[in-house]
Amino acid sequence: MKNIVAANWKMNFDIDKAQSVAQKMAEIINTKAVDVVVCPPFTHLDRLDEVFSSSVIKLGAQNMHFEEKGAFTGEISLAMLQSVGCEYVILGHSERRHIFYEDDEFINKKVKSAKKHGFNVILCVGETLEERKNGRAFDVVKTQLQKGLDGVDRQNVIVAYEPVWAIGTGVSADRDTIEEMHKFIRRSENDVPILYGGSVKAKNAAEIASIDDVNGFLVGSASLDADEFKKIIDEFIKTKGV
Ligand code: PGA
Repeated sequence: MKNIVAANWKMNFDIDKAQSVAQKMAEIINTKAVDVVVCPPFTHLDRLDEVFSSSVIKLGAQNMHFEEKGAFTGEISLAMLQSVGCEYVILGHSERRHIFYEDDEFINKKVKSAKKHGFNVILCVGETLEERKNGRAFDVVKTQLQKGLDGVDRQNVIVAYEPVWAIGTGVSADRDTIEEMHKFIRRSENDVPILYGGSVKAKNAAEIASIDDVNGFLVGSASLDADEFKKIIDEFIKTKGV
């Protein structure tokens, strides 16, 4: 099983700051034990493609549109992403689902299109706090997986379990919760790497990495700092012994 540690920079950094953080990452991260992916805002992809060209770090996008081209104001196509060196794309992130009202059918169209273009797809799933309190966490994740991956072969598909209530809060889900959900996902998804996301940082990386079915991380806030991101990668590698 492939191991992946991915950075989701969300809507942070101007181009110069992005370049300096990326340059530092390119200098200090040189492992081949895991795939390291950085997903900056669209406007920074081209410059970062250059920065990462002689490093192990791969480039990813945070979203895309499934159509090839045309009258889709404000959207970005896969061919455009490919032309600036993108190999990965994050789809179905909870912020896309909850702030921008993307539903499972819409996300499924994106997954299919991204796969057709040869992208590695990081499909995010995860329940809200209310859904968890109502005992619906497993149902929600199951539906997101079933609908999101409907008609999709699993090659180059990566699933990221990101409980919405643990994203950006500074407090990750606890060990048992992560273990239980990753096991649940593993039951239907034998061959896909399953990442955990939601307040991963250097301090909790080893504990989360010690869970069997955790094959990597999707890191938000803590990936904005090159040293912290490298520590997370190192903790993962050390704990997994890869
Ligand atoms: P966080 O974000 O690490 O800041 O919680 C993770 C994500 O949203 O992918």
